[in-house]
Amino acid sequence: MRIAVVHGPNLNLLGTREPEVYGTATLADVDRALEELAREVGAEVEFFQSNCEGRILDYLAEIRERVDGVLINPAGLGHTSVALLDGLLATSRPFAEVHLSNPSSRESFRHRSFLSAAAVGVVAGFGVDSYLSGFRCLNNYLVRRSGAAQ
Ligand code: DQA
Repeated sequence: MRIAVVHGPNLNLLGTREPEVYGTATLADVDRALEELAREVGAEVEFFQSNCEGRILDYLAEIRERVDGVLINPAGLGHTSVALLDGLLATSRPFAEVHLSNPSSRESFRHRSFLSAAAVGVVAGFGVDSYLSGFRCLNNYLVRRSGAAQ
């Protein structure tokens, strides 16, 4: 399976950005851990981060033919963007939503996600492990689904 990992706005600052909330791992650390996991489970992975919503939408439009699923930390855009939901739906690929922190235990404006209802699943609150669990579960889902389709 080929999975695209998308990191939303400000996640390029991981490691120094509010470490008490998001931890001290950098984005490179997260991607390295995912690369290792992808090798372990026999998946392929590609990464994308942008602080610009439009760039993320362009990327999603570009990958629809080449990936089987999308793992996304939408960051703040998850709470605000119908366009991001539409971009994910337009890929016609299953996606999983992850968050380092648990938005439900934070300010009320973080409680709503435009993406969650359309996601295969959501993992939040476990730091880098949210990404790793989300990746593993999405890959298992895609493998099962492709077996069922044959
Ligand atoms: C986040 C949670 C969001 O509420 C926030 O806007 C982020 C990061 C997380 O990974 O915990 O930028 O998605």
